[in-house]
Amino acid sequence: MASKLELKDLIRPDNFIDGKWVAAASGKRFGVTNPATGEVIADVADSGEADARAATDAAARAFPAWRDALPKDRAAVLHRWHDLMLENADALGRLISLEQGKPFAEGRGEVLYGASYVKWFADEATRIYGDIIPQQQRGKRMTAVKEPVGIVAAITPWNFPFAMIARKIAPALAAGCTVVGKPAEDTPLTALALVLLAHEAGVPPGVLNLIAASRENAVSAVASWLHDSRVRKITFTGSTPVGKYLARESAETLKKLSLELGGNAPFIVFDDADLDAAVTGLLVSKFRNGGQTCVCPNRVYVQSGVYEKFGDMLAKRVAALKVAPGTDPDAQIGPMINARAIDKIARHVDDAVAQGARVLAGGKRLTALGPNYYAPTVLADATPAMQLSCEETFGPVVPLFRFDDEAEALRAANDTPFGLASYFYSQDIRRIDRVSRGLEAGIVGINEGALASEAAPFGGVKESGYGREGSKYGLDDYLSIKYLCQGGLE
Ligand code: SIN
Repeated sequence: MASKLELKDLIRPDNFIDGKWVAAASGKRFGVTNPATGEVIADVADSGEADARAATDAAARAFPAWRDALPKDRAAVLHRWHDLMLENADALGRLISLEQGKPFAEGRGEVLYGASYVKWFADEATRIYGDIIPQQQRGKRMTAVKEPVGIVAAITPWNFPFAMIARKIAPALAAGCTVVGKPAEDTPLTALALVLLAHEAGVPPGVLNLIAASRENAVSAVASWLHDSRVRKITFTGSTPVGKYLARESAETLKKLSLELGGNAPFIVFDDADLDAAVTGLLVSKFRNGGQTCVCPNRVYVQSGVYEKFGDMLAKRVAALKVAPGTDPDAQIGPMINARAIDKIARHVDDAVAQGARVLAGGKRLTALGPNYYAPTVLADATPAMQLSCEETFGPVVPLFRFDDEAEALRAANDTPFGLASYFYSQDIRRIDRVSRGLEAGIVGINEGALASEAAPFGGVKESGYGREGSKYGLDDYLSIKYLCQGGLE
């Protein structure tokens, strides 16, 4: 197979199990649609329990050899996979845009972002050190070594169909684990294309297995992994209710879990902030993927002294954002993923307006473009009673809350069960220290809206989950520590 592929060559509508493309055991299929037009892109295998079990069987057979492969050989495979991602970045970016809706430039950017994790973990594969424990008794040697946890089940969301699965599979394979995976029903094609490239990069049969499933069948497919004691770890990115379900259901076989769940990120603008920088930072963080990102600011707190000015500056920039299909080279915001998403956004805005919010920009569906478009929106006079204050809107809506002092801002920012990302803008170094310590979140952006990096630990606290992706910490979730105590050495 040529390593540079066209978009049509990347579309593989079957499951990938044990190194082969196979239809679902039931023969069922479901349609994956383009959110810009509603047209069906492909009819994809609709898997259930039997397919999930076949994937686990293959992963179990492949595990011993992959675990025992030299780390530098596993690294070489991951490096080849990374190189293939870059070679095919244009076609992959188009595929992401086609099934997820984000503008092509963002889709291509996501490919580079996801690939950066693959390179990072390819390098980390050769640095999985243990420890020699200082001697405690004569004649005994004590060491701690790290081993792969075993089979990993990766369950991934639709908002970053490339990056989220890449940053789960890469550390798993680097650690010597084998993988079974299921991408979101809205966007399975990107994940299946990734598996195609992994195969070409030399990932051995059974080491990486992926099944697709519709919303109706996903639960029974995933349940097979939750109750199978051979699956030792679940890594999931998605909503908090589903994360809790996975934790509950997998408790029976006590699996290791990494859960990257919902956020309700606060973004605080203090009177002493550089307002131009704060507006730019908010645009970058809020409108990435049209607001459909777990780390997007959901609640923007602006101090009274700059409230009106900041609102005006922001509304001008937001009103100028270009909303268009992802194929339009000037598009900055594409369609939302589906009807449920657009209905939730409209419900949040309508509720806020009914409770007294002022619309500074947007505030309506853009039906002339298609059913899934919503205008980038800024709402002033937001209050904690509004739905958008306690639920993630997951769309292009910025509610502005007013506050008077730092203590009030911190209290409001932390008044949520979630704790993924948070942001604040201030030029006072003492305040920067106080607020960064006071925010209850796994990630804090200080005078910065773009936080993502493969070298940094990504993850939350409270009901945003646990575990970290990326960075030197990211492999820990795929490893267990074995203590070796050797006696008789006098
Ligand atoms: C997410 O929305 O879950 C991921 C965002 C990121 O990687 O920055």
